[in-house]
Parts: sequence; structure tokens; C-alpha cells
Amino acid sequence: MENGQLEHLYYGKSIKYLDHYDRFIERSYRPVSVGEFTGDLIHSLESIKQEFPSSGSGDFREPAVEILQEDGSHVMEFRYSSFEVLAGKPYIPNLPATFCKDSQDAQTLRITLTDDLTGATAILTYTIFNNLPVIARSVSITNLGEDPIRVNRLMSASLDLPDSEFEIIQLSGAWGRERHLSRRPIRPGIQAIGSTRGISSHVHNPFLLLCRPGTQEHWGEAYAVNLVYSGNFLALAEVDAYSITRLQAGVHPDKFCWTLNPGECFYSPEAILVYSDRGFNGVSQAYHSLYNKHLIRGNWAELERPVLMNNWEGTYFDFTEQQILEIARQASELGIELMVLDDGWFGRRNDDTSSLGDWFVNPDKLPNGISYLAEQINRLGMKFGLWFEPEMVSPDSHIHRDHPEWVVGAPGRTRKQGRHQYVLDFSQPEVVNYLFDLMDEVLSSANIEYVKWDMNRCISEAYSSGLGSDRQGEFFHRYIMGVYALYDKLIAKHPKILFESCASGGGRFDPGMLYYAPQTWTSDNSEAIERLKIQYGTSMAYPLSTMGAHVSSIPNHQIGRTAPLQTRGHVAFFGVLGYELNPLQLTDSDRKIIKEQIQTYKRYRRLISKGTFYRLQSPFEGNEIAWMTVDDNADQALVGWYQVLSRPNEPYWRLRLTALCPEEIYYVEELNSYYSGSELMNVGLLLTPHPSDHQDFNIIEKWDFASRMFTLIKKSLK
Ligand code: GLA
Repeated sequence: MENGQLEHLYYGKSIKYLDHYDRFIERSYRPVSVGEFTGDLIHSLESIKQEFPSSGSGDFREPAVEILQEDGSHVMEFRYSSFEVLAGKPYIPNLPATFCKDSQDAQTLRITLTDDLTGATAILTYTIFNNLPVIARSVSITNLGEDPIRVNRLMSASLDLPDSEFEIIQLSGAWGRERHLSRRPIRPGIQAIGSTRGISSHVHNPFLLLCRPGTQEHWGEAYAVNLVYSGNFLALAEVDAYSITRLQAGVHPDKFCWTLNPGECFYSPEAILVYSDRGFNGVSQAYHSLYNKHLIRGNWAELERPVLMNNWEGTYFDFTEQQILEIARQASELGIELMVLDDGWFGRRNDDTSSLGDWFVNPDKLPNGISYLAEQINRLGMKFGLWFEPEMVSPDSHIHRDHPEWVVGAPGRTRKQGRHQYVLDFSQPEVVNYLFDLMDEVLSSANIEYVKWDMNRCISEAYSSGLGSDRQGEFFHRYIMGVYALYDKLIAKHPKILFESCASGGGRFDPGMLYYAPQTWTSDNSEAIERLKIQYGTSMAYPLSTMGAHVSSIPNHQIGRTAPLQTRGHVAFFGVLGYELNPLQLTDSDRKIIKEQIQTYKRYRRLISKGTFYRLQSPFEGNEIAWMTVDDNADQALVGWYQVLSRPNEPYWRLRLTALCPEEIYYVEELNSYYSGSELMNVGLLLTPHPSDHQDFNIIEKWDFASRMFTLIKKSLK
């Protein structure tokens, strides 16, 4: 606008031959609004599309920024000052963010806005990556004035879209049913999701999507935002009086207040915006490639992830050294590459009431220590991994007795327990350093190549004894920065360790965590049919390479369902495969099936983790579910098909595939047949059981919870 107010012009499919932008600027007389210029009724902040709306000066919608000043005023007026374009992408200090190794891979626009009265300067940062429909956005506020200012709200991205013809999709749920897709029409007013639990949470994921009504997996327009952050967040869509839709995501303003003394700077986390005109699969594929190439770091970004055996559901707390070694021996015979010892190896931890924080080995269970165990497991040709819950402390533990001031809790208030435990105050650097020393000692004492980092309760009575009364609004953000700092220190010292993050299953499945831990335990619910919804929803934003997916025993421990081993494998295949059961209890036939599963998985592991993933049929819409992954040249594809309940006398089932070369011929291994790509995409695979099978009830493809997998290999036509 003429007064330096930064406006948003357009965001969507690329437009060619544009010689000027005037046609994007919409103005109208808006009665009862506040004019920007004296005597003028046309220019009002209330009715224009803004890039960085601030509070208190005539825009009554949700602001991107709200700053409290020394005199008690909240009124801010950020005006355009300058811009620059950089090759590559700058880092955001102390926060996870997407990166590019080669400065040719991305370009960054930085726009500087200033508020003359306070001297506050905002830098809006936008990075675009080659060949990806993605914009990475963040904001920093620097206090160049003479008085302190208090940032009460700072959204990482705020976007005003020109109309409200949208439906909204969020990934919501609870423990054991994380990231279910929820879709509804957008309405006037605010529709928001968020977390104030200290973790991104099981309840809502920091992801929000707006799509045109009717948008489906393969077609339609969608705009999505995903916050690279693991703490309290807010994501919202607000439809205003003139049908402009404002989309925002950032740190949750609830209880947030960050004081900036003169010269200090605050950085927001990064928000990743994706635009797709190819439906939801287009959105997901953009996130998947961005995260695989520009978020996940270290050796494990490229290396194939080991198939693991985790003892949790196999033994829970009740194990001995001998048992773990026997489980590992049997696992190695099955082809498993990594043995993970879960909770219960430390202190006096025989149930969940004690010892968190006592990160030294329990000699009653492991008389020869961790290094011996790791050596024995390495001798079997397997890697060894260990469980920690670094942010937690049990009342019955050394840390709690020695350092009660390190526990999160408000003065004079009862500290409430969650899973019999308290939260350590990671906003205090000495707590982080202490934990680093403890963990480093264990990790340096043995050949530990994997760590499962758990976090099993939300944060209540949020208060830090290390912060002054005027700084308590910084607690939650400082807490998560402490978590990131500990990850950074451990990764720097132990760069070869593969970290898997976890928070009672999938309570912290977010891009912030993926920057440190390349994979996340998707859900404590390991039941295959339940996992269809969880993995389907999770794949909206997160690649298969990040989703820990385990085959567990039956009846399933979370919900008692009994799904065939074949189906349990076929679901876990579309993730990072693991087994979480006691192999000593397997039958010979199970063993044979598992061995074959692992061989097949290894053969297609690269395709699964690096291929392009397509969702074909949604578990939220029907009884049959399907998805597939295809490699870069469509030379190979892997298709998973699942049936929830079997039904009598069904219509014919044809599964139409996608992204194949229409002219080429594919060999479908399981059917021992050749098909053209065009037949597979237009006619599909006929999945109805063969007529001659109709009396045969031993065909498990006909049962409840059935599944089939198809591997497609392109054959040359010549
Ligand atoms: C959490 C995790 C589980 C397991 C247990 C151990 O619930 O999500 O996978 O590690 O803790 O106590």
C-alpha cells in the first residue's frame, strides 16, 4: 500500500506473461472500517490481503505479530523498508529448519519491515527450492529501539487467500489413533488447531490444509502448511467479512511472551507452505521430497534403515540378559539387522513408577553391562540400540532427590504426575548439560548405533525456577530449544547413531523432530488395520522413510484384533519395517513368513523409502485401502491393497494404479502376468477372487483384514 504496508498479491499456480501486478490489488469501499489515510474510506487494513498483519491498528483479524511496549501499548505499524535476494538458504539459529547443501538449490528473499516508533525490525524470510512447489517461511524480530519490547505473538507464516471456497483438512486424533484425516467445509470466523501441551501432540499435528471442494488424491487445488516445530503451536484459518481466508501457523501465543532487550533478536520456527494443483498426493510428494532431501540430516538421510527388533511388546519390563540375547539370536536368523532394548534396562526400573533419570545399567537384569550386551549382539551381525527418556524424571530417582529445582513446577502448586513421572526443566542449560553427560557416558561405553528417544507426558504447571517472574512466558519455547540443544550435542559427539523419536508413540511426529531424528515411532498402536488410518494420515506430510512401522503379535496388545501375519507385514512394509514381538513364541510357519517378508522388504527398501508415494484408496472413505510407491523412472513399483471387513457377493474390485509408463509392459510378480502400464492405470488389477475359489474359505485374501501386495517391474518392449 502507499503507506508501506506490505500486501499479498497472489499465491497459486504459476502465471505466465505478467507485465504488471495492478490487477491483483483489490479495493472497495468498506463501511464501518478504519481508514488508513485521513478522509479516505477505501484503504482499510481490515479488507486487504496482508503479508504481516500486526495488531491494534485497524485490522481486526488474527494478527501475525503482537508486541507489548514499555508504555503498555500493543499498537504496531510495520512498514516496508527493504528487500534482498540471496542464493541458498540461511540457517535459523538454534532451531530446526530445512537447508540446502548447495547454494544453487534454493533462493531466499528477505524483506525488512520496521516499526519506527519502537525501532522493532521484522525480517520476513521466504525460501524457494528448485523443482519443488514449496515456500519455507520464517520471521525474526530484532529490537533496534531503546526500550525493551515483549513479543506476545509471532506467526511464522500468515497468508491471505482471496476467497473462502475451501475445505479444511487437519491431522487429528489421540494416543493410539494419531493423525486421522478430518475434513470439513470452512466457515466464517476462526477454525484453529494447536497444542499447549509442550509437545506438538497426538491430538493435532502442526499441519493444516485448505483445498477446493471436491479435491481428491489425484486432482484439485490445495494449500498446506506444516510447522517445523515440536512444541506448542497454533495453526488456523480465519474467514473474514469479505471472504478472504487467512491461513496462519506459528508458536502458540498461549502464555507466550518473549522479552527483547535492545539489540536482541527472536527467531520464529519455520513454516513450510506447499501448493498443489495435483490433489493431496501432490501436496504430500512435495513435503516428502523436501524432507528427504532438505530436512533429514547426517549419514542416515541416505543410508538404508535397518530392519529392527524391539523387545517392548515382547517382554515389557520383564526380561533378563539371557532372554534379550536369545531374542537377538532368533531375530538375526530371521534377517533382522538391529536389536533395540526398550524401557527397563536402567536404575531399578521394573515398572513405570521409578528410575527415569537414573541412566545407569540395572545389574540385576544386565549383570555384564551394556557393552557386553552390545558386543554379543554385534557378534550376531546385528547393530544394537537403546531406549532413553531424557526429558523425564521419576520421583524415585537420584536426579529428583539431588536436584528438585530441576523439575518443572509452579511455586506453591502441586506438581501433577503423568505416567508416575515429572518433567525435567530443559529450559535450564545446566539440566541439558547434565543429561548430555549422563547419556554420553552410556553411549560412549558401548557400540550403540541407535537410540529411541521417548517422551511420555505433557507439561503441566509450566514454570521454571531458572527464569525470572517476567520471563516465564519464554518457558515452553526455551524448553523445546533445550531438547533441540541436547539432540545437537549428542549428534555432534555421536554422529553415527540413528535416532528415532517417540512420545508415547506418535505424540511428537513433526518436522522439527525429523531434523534430529530421521525416523519417528508412528504410534503405540501397532495393530495393522488401525495403522492403515494412522499411516495414511501421517503420509499427508511425512515420507515413508520417517515412519517406524512394526509387526506385532496377535491378539494385538492395544485393541485385541487378530489380523493375519501377511497383512501385518504388508502394512508395516510401507514405513521403516520393524518387529515388536517375542520371536521365542513364533511358530515355524510364522518364522518362515517373517523371513520371507524381511527378504522382500530388503529387496524393495530403497523403493519404499525413496520412491514417490501415492495414496490410492482412503481408509477414511471405504472398506478397501490401497497405496503404492514408484521409483523415479517408473521402472519399479510396489502396491499395497487391504480389506478391512470381508463381505459377501461383492461387486468386482479393480484397483487402478497410477504414475506408470502407459506404453511400457510391466511384469506383476505375484500374478505372474504381464500388463501394459496403460491397462494397469485405466482398467486396473482385477482383485476379485477367481470364480473357482468361491467355495474355498482357506484363501486369506477373502477374509476380514486381508491384504495383497504387488511388485511391478518394467520390461522392455523389445
Ligand atoms: C512409550 C513408547 C513405547 C515404549 C514405552 C516404554 O509408551 O511409545 O514404544 O517405548 O514408552 O515405556
